[in-house]
Amino acid sequence: MAKGRLRLGVNIDHVATVRNARGGANPDPIRAAILAQEAGADGITAHLREDRRHISDADIEGLMAALTLPLNFEMAATDEMQKIALRHKPHAVCIVPEKREERTTEGGLEVAREENRLAHFIAPLRDAGCRVSLFVAADRPQIESAARIGATIVELHAGAYCDLHAEGHFVARDAELERLREMATYADSLGLEVHVGHGLAYDTVQPVAAFPEVMELNIGHFLIGEAIFLGLAPAIAEMRRLMDTARG
Ligand code: PXP
Repeated sequence: MAKGRLRLGVNIDHVATVRNARGGANPDPIRAAILAQEAGADGITAHLREDRRHISDADIEGLMAALTLPLNFEMAATDEMQKIALRHKPHAVCIVPEKREERTTEGGLEVAREENRLAHFIAPLRDAGCRVSLFVAADRPQIESAARIGATIVELHAGAYCDLHAEGHFVARDAELERLREMATYADSLGLEVHVGHGLAYDTVQPVAAFPEVMELNIGHFLIGEAIFLGLAPAIAEMRRLMDTARG
């Protein structure tokens, strides 16, 4: 049974990537966030990376000031990021692993091995009223640990599923999709809210959107790329349509 309308969080990091390629102010991620809001996004996601390669501190301030939609603030589990999150108190924080050399967030958070540290790390964020999400692989021990330390949400990493699809490995892709489905059900059974993100595009979104336990999808890179061809609002509207159709 579907638990209501599936939310779409639009990740605007790569508007900032294009801006930063030249410096200056254009294109403005805040303007993109406002447009996404008007186009039917249910939330905005932005990742303030340690190296500030896309979103900047000023962008986070601007988003907090300009948005009426909830901001999902993606961050690594560092003291610096915790201070910034506690200053802004966004609607949600999504804790992600971060490696300087990676092109994007390649894997899930190692919650099981770092349970104690993460429990202490998220406690003040929860106390400040932020919904705490942990970005994890579709892996039972990681999900169990997330529940044990009191996370509100797990966001399941869809990267492997999307990569296998793009590479044409359809048997392996279907196995990965099944793993995501099972782990969405499992996380839900532990009382965690389930989100999915990373790498989703028009041709991969629907099977995931159909999982009844999934409450939110966070999608960025594909939508910002598609905006070059369609415009941002139509690109988001098409994603919304595919999600709603799959949810049926
Ligand atoms: N969710 C999380 C936790 C992420 O780290 C990212 C990438 O920053 C996304 C969703 C969005 O992924 P993509 O840009 O590939 O759609």
